Amino acid sequence: MAKPTTVYVCDDCGHEHPKWQGRCGGCGNWNALREEVRGDDDEPSSSGSPSSGDGGSRAGYGEADDGSPVKMGDIEGSETQRETTDISELDRVLGGGLVPGGVVLLGGDPGIGKSTLCLQLGAQFADGGREALYVAGEESRSQLKLRAERIEAPADEMWVLCETNLERVEQFVRDREPDLLVIDSIQTLTSEEFSSAPGSVVQLREVTGALTQVAKGLQIPTVLIGHVTKEGAIAGPKVLEHMVDTVLYFEGRSDLDHRVLRAVKNRYGSTDEIGVFEMSRRGLEEVVNPSATFLEERPSDASGSAVVPIVEGTRPLLVEVQGLVSPTEYGPPRVTTVGVEQNRVTLLLNIIEKRTGLEVTGHDVFVNVAGGMRIGEPAADLGIMTAIISSYVDRAVPDQAVVFGEVGLTGEVRTVSRAVPRLMEAENLGFDRAVLPKGNADELADLQDGGETPPFADGQLDFARNLADPIRALFGKDVLT
Ligand code: TYD
Ligand code: MG
Repeated sequence: MAKPTTVYVCDDCGHEHPKWQGRCGGCGNWNALREEVRGDDDEPSSSGSPSSGDGGSRAGYGEADDGSPVKMGDIEGSETQRETTDISELDRVLGGGLVPGGVVLLGGDPGIGKSTLCLQLGAQFADGGREALYVAGEESRSQLKLRAERIEAPADEMWVLCETNLERVEQFVRDREPDLLVIDSIQTLTSEEFSSAPGSVVQLREVTGALTQVAKGLQIPTVLIGHVTKEGAIAGPKVLEHMVDTVLYFEGRSDLDHRVLRAVKNRYGSTDEIGVFEMSRRGLEEVVNPSATFLEERPSDASGSAVVPIVEGTRPLLVEVQGLVSPTEYGPPRVTTVGVEQNRVTLLLNIIEKRTGLEVTGHDVFVNVAGGMRIGEPAADLGIMTAIISSYVDRAVPDQAVVFGEVGLTGEVRTVSRAVPRLMEAENLGFDRAVLPKGNADELADLQDGGETPPFADGQLDFARNLADPIRALFGKDVLT
């Protein structure tokens, strides 16, 4: 019989220490350790801690086999069975739909729309004759009802359980065996077996482990809503992300209506698809044509704006990048960015100065991706630089032009992937001029040789080898001396 022991667990990373210390040995954060008493009768079942000597229930991976080794060829091939959610932007991010027994962790800032999305999901299930259970730990029945009325999703058949006790939730799930389980939120559930506070690492791990096991055992697709910390990670340790099958983040700026749903981990699909929604007065609406939405408020004939075709997953998207270059009033010049990495912009500014002679680094520079999108791919380099230079020389980019290409340190414009879908999206939205890397010219020629009509057959394509080419082509030869 083990005596009760005391361990100190880090609230940020879950690292365990035998003695209290001011700083966590795992992640280095200060004042993050919490005391946990572990007795013999409340042996943690899924803490995964080596000291507990219990490796028996590793977060519900015990599936219906006996655990013995098998040859790959003897495993019955099973096309992952998916249940469509009838919310196509959500299905796209999930890789086709929910998977029976698959556990999805949905994170995002407060007020971004996590509860709304899950309510709409539950309503889709319930209205389609499937049984959905929504466990609300944060809101009362009447608050849920108000939200349902607001989004005009009566969801009359959806089960609502306002409960924060894990054991009671588990009991109800086992009794009802719903077709969908939503937990809003994982941080509010606590297990009776542990004395630590709701939302502490030990509770989170226990609760997530227990729910994962139930979901796998009964093959219920499950969505766990998780809060996000100041740093933007799901509150609680990374451990949670390892315990679930899929991790989705819901992003957007609270002052804008667009919301982007992004997968950062997906055992059942790719992680680069995004889903785009708009928060309306009646809940979240799917955005069928994100490019048109992102370009809606684009000024015409104004300097400091460039349209850039980016690719998210398999989906090409047009976004507007804005640049503003203004003389530094005092102090060192500042670079401020929204939607692009600041370091990348600083690098691009130095390349512009070195390779074109335009003295941009002595100025305050602002770069903003309109509509709250975030750009991560270097293929947008040339577009970002074009927006900055456009502001610096105060000449507008031609209205019907799009610009893309990766730019290297010597100012060379490098080939990018998926040039054809980028061009096709631009053509569909009525653009008739594109600046793109010379290295992508062959791809278009190959299409033509293969008997297909390449995009921009009637438009103008400016192939660029280095930064100076497109600058002269777009703004006039006189801008560079
Ligand atoms: P909510 O889903 O409660 O966010 P989360 O669960 O991520 O904290 O969404 C709350 C915000 O969304 C709130 O500020 C109001 C707004 N909202 C709408 O604009 N329209 C709607 O139909 C609903 C339900 C909410
Ligand atoms: Mg909520």
